[in-house]
Amino acid sequence: KRTFRDRLSVTKEQSLLGGGMKRIQKQHDKGSLTARERIELLFDTNSFREVDALVTHRCHDFGMSSTPDSIMPGDGVVVGHGLIHGRRVYCFAQDFTVYGGSLGEAHAKKIGKIMDMALRVGAPVIGLNDSGGARIQEGADSLAGYADIFQRNVDASGVIPQISVVMGPCAGGAVYSPAMTDFIFMIENTSYMFVTGPEVVKTVTNETVTKEELGGASVHAGGKSGVAHGSYPNDVAALRAMRTLLELLPSSNDASTLPVRPVTDDPNRSVPALNQLVPDDPNMPYDMKDIIREVLDHGSMFEIMPENAKNIVTAFGRMEGRTVGVVGNNPMVLAGCLDIGASTKAARFVRFCDCFNIPIVTFVDVPGFLPGTGQEHGGIIRHGAKLLFAYAQATVPKITVISRKAYGGAYDVMSSKHLKGDANYAWPGAEIAVMGAKGAVEIIFRGQDVERNTAEYTERFANPMVAAQRGYIDDVIEPSETRRIICDDLRLLRTKKMDTIPRKHSNIPL
Ligand code: COA
Repeated sequence: KRTFRDRLSVTKEQSLLGGGMKRIQKQHDKGSLTARERIELLFDTNSFREVDALVTHRCHDFGMSSTPDSIMPGDGVVVGHGLIHGRRVYCFAQDFTVYGGSLGEAHAKKIGKIMDMALRVGAPVIGLNDSGGARIQEGADSLAGYADIFQRNVDASGVIPQISVVMGPCAGGAVYSPAMTDFIFMIENTSYMFVTGPEVVKTVTNETVTKEELGGASVHAGGKSGVAHGSYPNDVAALRAMRTLLELLPSSNDASTLPVRPVTDDPNRSVPALNQLVPDDPNMPYDMKDIIREVLDHGSMFEIMPENAKNIVTAFGRMEGRTVGVVGNNPMVLAGCLDIGASTKAARFVRFCDCFNIPIVTFVDVPGFLPGTGQEHGGIIRHGAKLLFAYAQATVPKITVISRKAYGGAYDVMSSKHLKGDANYAWPGAEIAVMGAKGAVEIIFRGQDVERNTAEYTERFANPMVAAQRGYIDDVIEPSETRRIICDDLRLLRTKKMDTIPRKHSNIPL
């Protein structure tokens, strides 16, 4: 006679196997891993503890309960928690081998359960998305399930880091859970995200488009939509990168959970290379990432949106073993101008850092906002305001270094002293002015006596002296001393306290 224990072990084995060997093979043939293989790679060895492996759906429609294998224990999602570099992280991984990873009532409840637990204990949630969307057989229960998850995404926003890795299909309403998390990463060629797929697009707009062209990693992480924050060539590379990212992030908005690493790179290290990095000719580009690398511990940074709006760099790194968020205009692209893409990219990054107590270090070389009808009609006023608002509202330590140009309204936006900046510096070659000499002379002298007037303007404004005299910058520093000074400021600012005015919430321009 079969005992309950026998039955239990059969069910557990069944749960481990998901949709069975044939479907697992199909997943491998696509170049993708299964949910469980992904979890193995994501977490420290043997640290993952699954919950709800025995959960089943309770749908009887469309043959969903007609045969024993129409009820697959686990219901298409593996959920639980484990350790990443020794710190607790919750995870759900959709299993495409079970009903195409589609989301029904039980599947959604499992995800909701671990999100609730993560919020209760203050640990990040990482979702590995691979799903055919709402489970068609479960109808309204599937839609309810999505909304229950969306609400939790919002409730958890700014309390625990939420990361989505889209590792297969993610279509229809399913996109909005990742869209509300802090970061979305994708896999090149095997993942896609869209609200409506190519067939619907063809019917409605008569456009012929492939899944990749419509919503592959090349679209979302490659500079078109700005939906995703990065992409990787395969599952293994993505999961390794997630381990690196999570090591940099706090577990929650409780400042005591910020990771602290042993100091293995001298904070007082002088960096002579920085004295040579910025070209004398103000029109010559240079790569802001070179400056950022020189300043951070071991030159190591984790870039967010590396392929999107490259005129601004956003990255996490460490200084004196502690996480910092770095923002820097990059003169290599569009001369480092702020445009819609750069403003929204950096604004969201600044807000993430502020939610999670991560100090922000900003490097400024900005000739202004990008001119043109494309930008104006696209709403640069509204989008640029996001970055201004985000910086002005951030209460984390804010340190700013002007490496070269800080012109016009963009000077104000880029974490200026006036936005409650804590420490603002300029390098000796910096220019803090309304605009460059050429444009200024044309306007105020109407092109007369150009040479003399340009020389006078350059003498007066093409340096940081006036800003220093007014106290708009705290000091003009030698580039080589930048790392030492920032590390010292960050140490000082660990005890920073700033009251905010009580209100329901602010109204950031959206
Ligand atoms: N509900 C229920 N089952 C689903 C499903 C869904 N939304 N999406 C996929 N499945 C099932 C399939 O029936 C199939 O089951 P089987 O293994 O028992 O044959 C399995 O998942 C794999 O699907 P398949 O279509 O063979 O995989 P594919 O890689 O060729 O295509 C999709 C993947 C996602 C493009 C395709 O399945 C699809 O279009 N699904 C519907 C998407 C949708 O419109 N969802 C609702 C929007 S919210």
